[in-house]
Amino acid sequence: PDRTVWTSDGDLQIDGASTAAAAHTYGTPLILVSERHVRDRCRAYRAAFPGTEVAYAAKAFLCTAMARWVHEEGLSLDLCSGGELAVATAVGFPAERLLLHGNAKPPRELAAARSAGVDRVVIDSMCEVNRLAVLAKRRSPQRVLLRITPGIRARTHKAIATGGEDQKFGLSIATGEAAAVAERILHRPELTLAGVHCHIGSQIATTGPFLAAARRAVAFLSELRDRFGVTLGELDLGGGHAVATVRGGTALDPALLGARLLTTVRAECADRDLPMPRLTVEPGRAIVGNAGVTVYRVLAVKSRPGRGRFIAVDGGMSDNPRPALYGARHEIALVGRTTKAPPRPATVVGRHCEAGDVLAHRADLPDDVHPGDLLAVACTGAYTHAMASTYNMVGRPPIAAIASGRARLLVRRETEADLLARDMAHDKDRDMTG
Ligand code: LLP
Repeated sequence: PDRTVWTSDGDLQIDGASTAAAAHTYGTPLILVSERHVRDRCRAYRAAFPGTEVAYAAKAFLCTAMARWVHEEGLSLDLCSGGELAVATAVGFPAERLLLHGNAKPPRELAAARSAGVDRVVIDSMCEVNRLAVLAKRRSPQRVLLRITPGIRARTHKAIATGGEDQKFGLSIATGEAAAVAERILHRPELTLAGVHCHIGSQIATTGPFLAAARRAVAFLSELRDRFGVTLGELDLGGGHAVATVRGGTALDPALLGARLLTTVRAECADRDLPMPRLTVEPGRAIVGNAGVTVYRVLAVKSRPGRGRFIAVDGGMSDNPRPALYGARHEIALVGRTTKAPPRPATVVGRHCEAGDVLAHRADLPDDVHPGDLLAVACTGAYTHAMASTYNMVGRPPIAAIASGRARLLVRRETEADLLARDMAHDKDRDMTG
């Protein structure tokens, strides 16, 4: 987060709250999320995109508190599952500011979205058109957006690039698939085609690919007008805006992107004699990524001459699979004490039973890091807890919010009892001791 301060005793303070004290109170691993940072980013987005709907992509990180914060900051919420919808419903998030995404939405979840009154469902396949139309009614048609594949290849990890024709998302403009699905929607009185959506990928650091996708989308809006005589009023350009995950990393400045996107869409629409649509953007990581820090405790240190040093902590790929999955790099530092020991490279590994369980390759950490020390990993607000698993039957860590100089528990630690509670064949009277 922005307002981090290192105190003279080596503590990391976030918005005036001590990381070491929070780790002491709630145990480790612990995820800390700065409410201030989240709210500041929401405000920066609203200022950068005047007249544009900003929908927070809940998949990055969601709990009821997060839903409340983004609601209070005037954002909409982009959902991608019935579980996320349940969180939104639990806090009474206004349905007119909810969108539902997904390349394969289970019928049950479509029905739940319908009964919750979700404003827009983003159609991602022909199969979905009839499925949704059957749930909706002629008298109150479901508003839908059509997810198109703009055919843009942005530079990012291939697992999170979604703009090309060779991945599963969206409907191809090039093959005519998108126009065919649009036509089918236009023929269903239970559905209202409100606009077009595209999302080209995640952690994209330059404006170029977003501008190219926006131009393709506007061209498609004009194709729809020419072929079917409809002028659609909405254009959702997705998320994917990069944040700096390490010092010196490149971030995409929302103000720059906002200015360029608005200018590009306006010019492209003027050229094609189309009215300016209402725009939506869906940042996830850019809102919450740098709001989060994970604190771990060191459990073991191994030094192998010529092979380097392994520092093992009490979490790992179950609470942050990003380094293992995408080769992601996160800043990492010793917290809670000072040292004069010089920095020396180390591999920070987790406690899980596989060699790929690495949190940081070549981290520069003091030479005297030892068991009991605390390590803080930065930029873990997005896609860490959201992607956490219970691998090795390790419970997921708690989340504490930092606000007004103190930490407050938002989500408690998952206990072994929680894990066992799902085991329906467990019967205390039939254990093996008797
Ligand atoms: N809109 C749609 C339709 C999306 O699929 C996504 C992300 C977003 C918005 C928000 O993207 P963001 O602004 O957060 O980049 N697990 C990966 C990231 C997967 C992104 C999936 N979709 C990671 O940890 O890097």
